[in-house]
Amino acid sequence: MRLFLDTADYDEIRTAVDWGVISGVTTNPTLIARAGQDHETQVKRICQIVGDVSAETVTERKDDLIVEGRRLASWHPNVVVKVASTPDGLAAGKVLAGEGVKINVTLCFTVNQALLAAAIGAYFVSPFVGRLDDIGEDGMQVVRDIVVAYRAQNVQTKVLAASLRHPMHVTEAALAGADVATLPFTVLEQMYKHPLTDAGIERFMADYRKTQEPQPAKR
Ligand code: G3P
Repeated sequence: MRLFLDTADYDEIRTAVDWGVISGVTTNPTLIARAGQDHETQVKRICQIVGDVSAETVTERKDDLIVEGRRLASWHPNVVVKVASTPDGLAAGKVLAGEGVKINVTLCFTVNQALLAAAIGAYFVSPFVGRLDDIGEDGMQVVRDIVVAYRAQNVQTKVLAASLRHPMHVTEAALAGADVATLPFTVLEQMYKHPLTDAGIERFMADYRKTQEPQPAKR
């Protein structure tokens, strides 16, 4: 499973790229607003350091979405155009996919929506786990079901588990067979952490320091 960062914060992306663990980024209008940057400038900047950067469309009608999607795709070859799981979003996505643009169908909450994403030749489908959990549904079960349905149907669209809120979501997404997990930087940081790792380093360092101390002469 590939790991993506779900942020538009350049410094976070730069750090995670330097750690060597992420191979893509997902953004949305909320994350771009949080970064406080112009959409085009920020996406182009992110594309300089990592591949598969999802940029979201904000128009609603098919024809407008096609124009917008072409514009986003023209920014950089690493751009993946996000369209929502609506009739207009999917219709525009199909036209854009036919032109060779990589499409990420976002705001997916059911297996049926994922099947529609597959039908238009989407590159990614993004089931939103945390938002389903928020309304009392089992978001990860939807990811599991999409993976099973896609395998049964030999679908090429990749399952990108999104709206992941904590480290167990990442583990569960991997066990579910998701192709990609996109996570906030704080969750990525938490993935490294274990008290036994910290305690082990402390002990190894203490023992190493002992070997550096002058040893009493042996008789
Ligand atoms: O990748 C989708 C993500 O940005 C949504 O996450 O936590 O706002 O539901 P969240």
